[in-house]
Amino acid sequence: MPEREIPAHVGIIMDGNGRWAKKHFQPRSMGHRAGAQNFRTITRYASKIGVKHLTLYAFSTENWSRPAEEVGALMGLFKDYLREALRDFMDENIRVRFIGDVEGFAPDLQELIREVEEASAPKTGMVLNLAMNYGGRAEIVRAAAAFARDAQAGRVAPSQLDEGLFSRYLYTAGQPDPDLIIRPSGEQRISNFLLWQCAYAEFVYFDILWPDFKPQDLDRAIDIYNSRQRRFGGV
Ligand code: IPE
Ligand code: IPE
Ligand code: MG
Repeated sequence: MPEREIPAHVGIIMDGNGRWAKKHFQPRSMGHRAGAQNFRTITRYASKIGVKHLTLYAFSTENWSRPAEEVGALMGLFKDYLREALRDFMDENIRVRFIGDVEGFAPDLQELIREVEEASAPKTGMVLNLAMNYGGRAEIVRAAAAFARDAQAGRVAPSQLDEGLFSRYLYTAGQPDPDLIIRPSGEQRISNFLLWQCAYAEFVYFDILWPDFKPQDLDRAIDIYNSRQRRFGGV
């Protein structure tokens, strides 16, 4: 049997924390706590099996519309886990990057984000993109605005714009497009995740809530990915 191919870039929409909490008769914040724990487990496992780029959707531009208490609990968890990441991931050769509008976060969280990025910049292993205050549409608009500014300043000619150049204005500049997108929780939608980059990604949906998503489920998704035939519009 041929060896399975590990997709170079995997994206995961970490969904289902709220339903997990409900199932366990706990407040939603406890579901987020369980989800955050699992974020570490799955990140480590992805790195171990040789995923080169892992993008995890942690907080969307639309998630601000949740009750203040829930948003507050999420912000608290982000701080705890980034502090922990500063300690732990450092031994693991994982480079952490943030995609999204980090300026939308409180100053102390922004500071932590910068620290994690700086401390992990020399790492040469898996790139972990944390999508926080991320929206695919916002990312595309931001890229278009940045290109327009460059064009206006004469740094680039509008006629130079093509898909490759436009990609360089996105948060994911320089990284390959995702090969595989996994969404646990049972929902089958993209929810504004990596809209541009997903053009030819394979999608795998699971009826598992994110806190219950196990390393074996990542393996299972990779097996499904390997059973697919990617055609990219060809034959
Ligand atoms: C995903 O879990 C975490 C975030 C969106 C921050 P949810 O909180 O969306 O969980 P469900 O969808 O309500 O179960
Ligand atoms: C998508 O999940 C965002 C994250 C997992 C961070 P949501 O729970 O916000 O998505 P919808 O509302 O079900 O589309
Ligand atoms: Mg959800």
